[in-house]
Amino acid sequence: MKINIALQILFLASAIVSQEVEEQKVKISVYYSPLCSDTVRFFNQQFGPVYDEFKDKMDIELHPYGKASHYWNDLKEDYEFLCQFGRDECFYSKYHACALDVMPFNESLSLIRCLFEQHHERSKIISVCEKTHDIPIRAFKGCFENNSSALMAGHGNSTELIQLTFVPTIVPEGDTCLKRRDNLYKDFRVAFRKEYASKYQKYPDDVELSESEREKLKDLCTPDFPQHLFHSFMWL
Ligand SMILES: *[C@@H]1O[C@H](CO)[C@@H](O)[C@H](O)[C@H]1NC(C)=O
Ligand SMILES: *[C@@H]1O[C@H](CO)[C@@H](O)[C@H](O)[C@H]1NC(C)=O
Ligand SMILES: *[C@@H]1O[C@H](CO)[C@@H](O)[C@H](O)[C@H]1NC(C)=O
Ligand SMILES: *[C@@H]1O[C@H](CO)[C@@H](O)[C@H](O)[C@H]1NC(C)=O
Repeated sequence: MKINIALQILFLASAIVSQEVEEQKVKISVYYSPLCSDTVRFFNQQFGPVYDEFKDKMDIELHPYGKASHYWNDLKEDYEFLCQFGRDECFYSKYHACALDVMPFNESLSLIRCLFEQHHERSKIISVCEKTHDIPIRAFKGCFENNSSALMAGHGNSTELIQLTFVPTIVPEGDTCLKRRDNLYKDFRVAFRKEYASKYQKYPDDVELSESEREKLKDLCTPDFPQHLFHSFMWL
């Protein structure tokens, strides 16, 4: 009986502990193109440093595809792609897709960030980054040969679902609100802290919210100006 109670207490205690350490993360999905200069700038100047600061508060999902399109070719029994920046872009999208598929997420993200940092050296990017990263060569080759089309088409399917208007598009918590996406693109650190604060009533660096901030952060989607104007600005 005593043992039984002791076990129950232990069980309760561990349940409380596991609840306490339950991770508080904001989901961020990035729909991007490996070769688009706005994407390069976003990863190097915005996403990279903020990820280093708050990575355990983020649940990141990456979709390399951009404004490509694809269809299934019955004759070739494979997907065909048309990429905005040509065949090179398709190649890199597949390369990113395989990195994400065969490597642990943190390792693939590190490789992808290296590719963006070396962007100015287009012809040498891959060899430079493969030297500084631990690539599972066989799995990677297998993926590239046999699975990269399907993986890229999968990212294409995901991209179609979010009605991408701009590359990159950053989607918080699967939300469709254009203002939240745009804020994350313009100043990722400020907007990410707000997203987190809105979800957890505190900032990711544990700064408390004031009463007025709490009120303001209740609805991150309230437009500053009419949404239809915002739509037309996106296209200018
Ligand atoms: C990825 O995570 C593993 C295990 O947590 C760690 O050992 C490794 O150093 C990390 N790699 C990078 C590039 O952060
Ligand atoms: C791709 O798949 C084929 C057929 O299953 C297999 O023979 C080939 O070895 C695979 N390629 C790689 C690089 O693994
Ligand atoms: C890769 O493709 C092969 C053949 O199409 C399939 O059997 C395998 O499950 C795929 N692997 C992954 C990780 O998707
Ligand atoms: C993408 O979506 C189409 C249409 O719904 C579907 O037929 C196809 O299997 C999907 N492809 C992948 C790789 O998920």
